[in-house]
Amino acid sequence: MKFFVDTADVAEIRALAESGLVDGVTTNPSLIAKSGRKMSEVIAEICAITEGPVSAEVTATDFAGMLAEGKYLRGIAKNVAVKVPLTEAGLRTCRALSQEGTPVNVTLCFSAAQALLAAKAGAAFISPFVGRLDDIAHDGMTLIGDIVQIYRNYPGIKTEVLVASVRHPVHLVQSAKLGAHVATLPPAVIRQLLKHPLTDSGLSAFLADWAKTGQSIL
Ligand code: E4P
Repeated sequence: MKFFVDTADVAEIRALAESGLVDGVTTNPSLIAKSGRKMSEVIAEICAITEGPVSAEVTATDFAGMLAEGKYLRGIAKNVAVKVPLTEAGLRTCRALSQEGTPVNVTLCFSAAQALLAAKAGAAFISPFVGRLDDIAHDGMTLIGDIVQIYRNYPGIKTEVLVASVRHPVHLVQSAKLGAHVATLPPAVIRQLLKHPLTDSGLSAFLADWAKTGQSIL
């Protein structure tokens, strides 16, 4: 399973990349706004850190505007994946860009039917938002299972399921069990994945016993 980092914080991405935990990055207009920086500069810096796909989202809502923005964003670096919302204009843009060889991430997916449409439009990634579904008392993981099953039924579909709006480690583990291709994780969730109290207490005990030996390895 691939791990993408869901942030526009360049320092966070750089730190996680040094541990080999970054297969790609996703951003959205809210994350760019939070960074307080110019979008093109942030995307260029992120693309220099990872060779994996870096999602940069259009903000136009009409086909011509989305297409123009998508081409501009793709021009920033060869590993930009253009992100479009799951609207009719977004799917049209997805098809046009995909036919030119640009990978497209179709975002704001909340149903299996929407995911099927994105696949037909040639999306490289579909981003179902599990946390936002959970927030309104729908089971986000049921949606992941449904999309994975539907895509598997049709081997011609090459779209990867990119689990988005991940809020905690259980979302990641369940996504992996269901066979999702990718999860995009906020840096805080990646750090939560790392932690286990038995790792901490076990390491303390080993180091205490080692100190009693008076040895040093080097
Ligand atoms: C990623 O592509 C999405 O934009 C992101 O995961 C949304 O997460 P949120 O629901 O926590 O804002």
